[in-house]
Amino acid sequence: MKTQYIISPSILSADFSRLGEQIREAEAAGAGWIHVDVMDGHFVPNITMGPFIVETCRRITNLPLDVHLMIESPENMVEAFAKAGADVLYVHVENSPNLHNVLTKIRSLGCSPGLVINPGTSALLLEPVLHLVDVVLVMSVNPGFSGQSFIPEVTPKIAQIRKMLNIANPKAVIAIDGGITAETLPGVLQAGVQVVIAASSIFKHPQGIEAGINALRSCFPD
Ligand code: DX5
Ligand code: ZN
Repeated sequence: MKTQYIISPSILSADFSRLGEQIREAEAAGAGWIHVDVMDGHFVPNITMGPFIVETCRRITNLPLDVHLMIESPENMVEAFAKAGADVLYVHVENSPNLHNVLTKIRSLGCSPGLVINPGTSALLLEPVLHLVDVVLVMSVNPGFSGQSFIPEVTPKIAQIRKMLNIANPKAVIAIDGGITAETLPGVLQAGVQVVIAASSIFKHPQGIEAGINALRSCFPD
């Protein structure tokens, strides 16, 4: 069967004075999801957006919204993000001591549970809960900011997680987030990535959003 790939532009690098226009442009260029980065200034050293922006995106587009929670105690906020219109809700393995509870709660709210792993965290920590997720998001930068450089050491970890998923949950897909460009994408696709999240290489592409998406899409195998 042919592998399906999805591009999810991260609005962290969008021009927020023209958010609607920029999301619609990404959608017209073939974006499959829209990625929203939620940061609380505690789990990561930056503060960004909350349920209000998710609700705004929900009114702009019908594309699935994948919402990346980089916050402390995410279990307290998943309901608000589900109500705001999130489709995929990701929590980090590093700060969620009760992973069974939060992942089950996300599914019971009608969303797809996603689990995120930072570059310095071992894939083995995911193993006990892999059967509960629809997406595993591998961070290829330390979370907090867009525009950072890809960390190449994560590539073998993607292949390791794909092998683990093939046993525990073959339908689950792997997403990549951080420093993804037309140069860094081919290697992670080969390792097993199907969902491609990118902020700078799309919204800050010198020729515009469509050119940024096309450059990433040109890396997908035929
Ligand atoms: C980083 C965020 C990413 C970020 C990616 O903490 O999770 O989604 O927006 O930005 P780029 O693609 O510029 O590395
Ligand atoms: Zn993200």
